[in-house]
Amino acid sequence: MKKVRKAVFPVAGMGTRFLPATKASPKEMLPIVDKPLIQFAVEEAVAAGITDMVFVTGRSKRSIEDHFDKAYELESELEARGKSELLDFVRNMIPKNINCIYIRQAEALGLGHAVLCAKPVIGDEPFAVILADDLLDGKPPVMKQMTDTYDYYRCSVLGVQDVPRADTRSYGIVDARAVADRVEQINAIVEKPKPEDAPSTLAVVGRYILTPRIFHHLETIKPGAGGELQLTDGIASLLSEEQVLAYRYDGTRYDCGSKLGYLQATVVFGQRHPEVGAEFDAYLKSLGD
Ligand code: G1P
Repeated sequence: MKKVRKAVFPVAGMGTRFLPATKASPKEMLPIVDKPLIQFAVEEAVAAGITDMVFVTGRSKRSIEDHFDKAYELESELEARGKSELLDFVRNMIPKNINCIYIRQAEALGLGHAVLCAKPVIGDEPFAVILADDLLDGKPPVMKQMTDTYDYYRCSVLGVQDVPRADTRSYGIVDARAVADRVEQINAIVEKPKPEDAPSTLAVVGRYILTPRIFHHLETIKPGAGGELQLTDGIASLLSEEQVLAYRYDGTRYDCGSKLGYLQATVVFGQRHPEVGAEFDAYLKSLGD
């Protein structure tokens, strides 16, 4: 029985909604207070027992590789200045047993194509897909909830939540029926339907556990919504031969691909921050006066 040991992080997107901040720097490096989004995503994977982090990168994404690399100059500078706490922090950002693997997606042909680029390193194993701009705050972390669900049902699992009907054109939407608490069996899935065409308001968020059979389907689908190879279309095709479950995760989602969601996350994580949280909270309260 194979465990989920690998996670794919598609990070080749252009991040146009955050221009000009994302002109030369990836959107996944935008910080929530002091931690970049991609690090939240990797920590969530680590908490789920995942050891191999596969980043599908593109142009202007060097800083993601640098972020998870050893930073010799920074470390010796911190050492020289006696900043031992910060030194410990940058040295131990991710546990020692974690492997970071980088694959270049030469052309931005869509999320389905990005996942397909990871096929050579995933091989014949179930794997997670994490979209770092969906910041999920859950206890236990949402990917851990999902790997537990996978370990029980042994099939693909998609993280879902209800959204307002007017928002269906921003998401993959599933038609599903409940089989257990938080778990639904998917009958159909469609990428970004108009509200009037959506089969429900149950939307896929940026968390997936997929069986390796998905690669076969991603190789056969045609470009879909927006002219891109859509992961959703690959999953729709997978449904013809395998069960796929929707999992209503327990937690809060911040859509950090949008300015509003990003600001909301910044406020909530700022209020909780061990160093500045109390003062920031007092400041926010003073604004209400
Ligand atoms: C992608 C997927 C979509 C999913 C969404 C979750 O869309 O294509 O099915 O619901 O992520 O955030 P994107 O937000 O990249 O347009």
